[in-house]
Amino acid sequence: MLRRLHDEQPDNFAFTPANLDWANGQIAKYPEGRQASAVIPLLWRAQEQEGWVSRPAIECIARMLDMSDIRVLEVATFYFMFQLRPVGTVAHVQVCGTTSCMICGAEDLVKVCKERIAPHAHELSPDGRFSWEEVECLGACANAPMAQVGKDYYEDLTAERLNDLLDLFVGGEVPRPGSQIGRFGSEPKGGPTSLRDGDMAEATNSSVTIATRLGDTISRITGDHPPRPLVEVGGARVARVAVMEPVAAVKPERLDAPRAEGPDDLKLIRGVGPKLEALLHHLGYYHFDQVAAWTPAEVAWVDENLEGFKGRVSRENWVEQARALTKAPK
Ligand code: FES
Repeated sequence: MLRRLHDEQPDNFAFTPANLDWANGQIAKYPEGRQASAVIPLLWRAQEQEGWVSRPAIECIARMLDMSDIRVLEVATFYFMFQLRPVGTVAHVQVCGTTSCMICGAEDLVKVCKERIAPHAHELSPDGRFSWEEVECLGACANAPMAQVGKDYYEDLTAERLNDLLDLFVGGEVPRPGSQIGRFGSEPKGGPTSLRDGDMAEATNSSVTIATRLGDTISRITGDHPPRPLVEVGGARVARVAVMEPVAAVKPERLDAPRAEGPDDLKLIRGVGPKLEALLHHLGYYHFDQVAAWTPAEVAWVDENLEGFKGRVSRENWVEQARALTKAPK
């Protein structure tokens, strides 16, 4: 791909005062005469501030680092991470198009971008708010297909979910990054096959938790912008975060004791270990057919009430598993 400066350039560029302080701090890390080593951090901060790297930004950084313009231009044009033309003012969507993602549906994601944003990569949407491009492997292959939007990864995407995400961005929301099907990390889609009794509640996935708390996925970095206002969610103070349409939880019918034939071995449900089985018994669930009959609202209730294991029912699709087990010969 030919990488050259954009036809239309702004008249000038300046770091914000806070970013300038930050940039001078970076330069000070290097011994006298080696300031050029700070070229990538400074280009990156310029892009974080403006969304892309313009000619005036390159010239400004060259002056700060006592480099010739052409040397900074060489760096900016060599690395694909630097955007050389304006990107959407709200979000620039980077869809991974490498092997795993391509096999798992990246073409569908690109189709959404073409339909919703612009027919070609690096073009702005008609309102100038969005842009997109296809990028090489972003290192989240186990959770393919995925896309990076701003600072965060959105994994296990479908065309439908990418459409939802774009809607949320349009509405000024910051969707929860990470796996979009509730995976904790990159464990198998059917649930972990080892460490099955551990608590892999999403709240303990620190990347997602921190990104959620910051809630600044797509904001430009001025170095001094105030953090997003925090709101109270489930007793915790977090930045405003969009979630999928909530389902009102309904407690499923329970039994006081197993039926005469005795309880089923609930540990045959992948993800259920002895502790979870005991917890299910405590809640009044002993049989596969009970689990198989749970509606989404009932799944939401059980998900909420599995103390220490919240979210496991939907994440590991216990209902489908239980349905298969009710049909399996005993
Ligand atoms: S192939 Fe898409 S993240 Fe690696």
